Amino acid sequence: MSEDFFRSWPLNEIQEKTERYMLNLFNRAPIAFRFGQGEFLYDTEGKRYIDFLCGIAVTSLGHGEADLVEAIRDQAERIIHSSNLFYSQEQAQLAEVLVEHSFPGKVFFTNSGTEATEAAFKLARSYGQQAREGATRIISFEGSFHGRSTAGMCLTAQEKIHSGFGPLLSDCVYLPPNDADLLEKELQDHGGNTCAIFLELIQGESGIRPMNKDFVKAARELCDEHEVLLVFDEIQTGIGRTGKLFCFENYGITPDVMTLAKGLGSGFPIGAMVVAEKFAPYLAKGQHGSTFSGGHLAALIAYETIRIIMTREILSNVNALSDFLFQRLRALAATQPMIREIRGMGLHIGVEFDRACAEIVSRCREAGLLLNCTSGNTVRIMPPLNCSLETAAKGMDIFEAVVRADDQA
Ligand SMILES: Cc1ncc(COP(=O)(O)O)c(C=O)c1O
Repeated sequence: MSEDFFRSWPLNEIQEKTERYMLNLFNRAPIAFRFGQGEFLYDTEGKRYIDFLCGIAVTSLGHGEADLVEAIRDQAERIIHSSNLFYSQEQAQLAEVLVEHSFPGKVFFTNSGTEATEAAFKLARSYGQQAREGATRIISFEGSFHGRSTAGMCLTAQEKIHSGFGPLLSDCVYLPPNDADLLEKELQDHGGNTCAIFLELIQGESGIRPMNKDFVKAARELCDEHEVLLVFDEIQTGIGRTGKLFCFENYGITPDVMTLAKGLGSGFPIGAMVVAEKFAPYLAKGQHGSTFSGGHLAALIAYETIRIIMTREILSNVNALSDFLFQRLRALAATQPMIREIRGMGLHIGVEFDRACAEIVSRCREAGLLLNCTSGNTVRIMPPLNCSLETAAKGMDIFEAVVRADDQA
């Protein structure tokens, strides 16, 4: 590899240009990454970090996975993009694999999670108009996060996400999660005007909060009874993160619509909406679309990602590592009362503290471990799905040392 491959601008120059030329929308830590290999990221100074963040559940096969890189190179040489004005083998094979592993249905590809939400929102409204006498209400749950587009934001039941952008889309209704009685009452009163329920099986952005099984079962039954679409947002939970390819498999409950993104493209932007066969006709030719959607390269990367996960014992690695991490975390919690709760499934883990956790996250970073903080007081731990036990143990050593030191501070 040439020397230039590793050479980079100094961090202060990158920061200066970022501030001068970019909208200031992100809270950035003072690091720029230059290189990634497996479970590790290297910054511009050459410092190595264990990556327990995966770009927020995105780079689930780690960095520079050899077969993926080779497939990307081959595909880039062959064709990167044509258009949805034509057919594409890469799209067709990806759609097949998604449907074969989920439920009988049809797929629409997007370029992000929020666009998958947007597509599902339009499908729901179109279904309401065509099949349910104009039903428009859509229910989502307090603490949810479905994206930043207008529909994504309106389905996200968090005031801080809406603030400053009103008026919001009408008929988006928010209920407390895990309350089947309230959901039943809402549908008894307004079922005739309700077209869909959007649900994250584990709320990621509000602290890794799994829905309880009885509630999800009740939601399924109520949706069937009232002919309401049940949409599972698997944008963060999907593609192996929870130990199954899709989180709904852990619940034994199948949705009518599923949205995906994040881990689907191993870092390349691609999302998808999978719609059960029966509801697929409610988005028809010309009603929705996208220039980039499911481009050859994007679709090939997502296909390879799923192929690698399904052919290499990666889900069993997720489950074994998950047991290991939960055990270590529970042992830590037993000695650290500042840890309130450990939640999650597979390698989608939240550790709730009795205080803000930004300081713990930045101390871990200084010590060479990348994590993040969700909803103020919950550390989110998301190693690559193919992380080795050795690296997971090293990451936990750093986390434990930082938590113990914080307790003594
Ligand atoms: C559950 C969920 N839905 C939707 C989104 C939005 O995805 P994107 O940021 O790709 O638009 C996210 C992103 O964090 C998410 O976690």
